[in-house]
Amino acid sequence: MTPSQRTDKTAQAERTSPPVDRKRRGLLRAMFDSAMGLGFSALGVASGLWAAATARFMMPNATAEPPSRFKVGHPAEYPANTVRTTFKERYGIWVVHGSYRGQSQIFALRTVCTHLGCITLWQASERRFKCPCHGSGFSAEGINLEGPAPRPLERCAIRIADDGQLEVDTSKTFREELGQWTDPACYVPG
Ligand code: FES
Repeated sequence: MTPSQRTDKTAQAERTSPPVDRKRRGLLRAMFDSAMGLGFSALGVASGLWAAATARFMMPNATAEPPSRFKVGHPAEYPANTVRTTFKERYGIWVVHGSYRGQSQIFALRTVCTHLGCITLWQASERRFKCPCHGSGFSAEGINLEGPAPRPLERCAIRIADDGQLEVDTSKTFREELGQWTDPACYVPG
């Protein structure tokens, strides 16, 4: 039997079948059509989500990571014996005007505790950085004074930029116990 003969037979069967059968067939076709429609819609949504996820993966994440080099204002904004907490959240540093080996210096300390890496808190009343995890304490200069922290907080590179502002570079760090705090790249004379 050719396809056209089969189609004629189907059409004839539909014409001659009882109204109840025709109704049932129509209902089944409507259900099939709506299921197909739903399927294609879901496929479209899934494709869109996949494309968006791929685009996000391929594009550089411009806002998630702060730059490692940034300005923190002019030296005059840092009176002696001050700790600026403004840059803790975004950049993970404290900017301090303190002294080291009798020299007045402005420097940037990483907020990360040198025990197991928790974030320290500045306790102004005690003039100490305190670690909430295991109780380590550091002086305003970053020297470990109490608790299990085995060494001072780390300094970041700092310099005076062309516009006269202090510029910090967190990609370069300096460790006191290695004698690196005498490097002029990690402080600005205050
Ligand atoms: Fe700071 Fe343990 S992580 S004391």
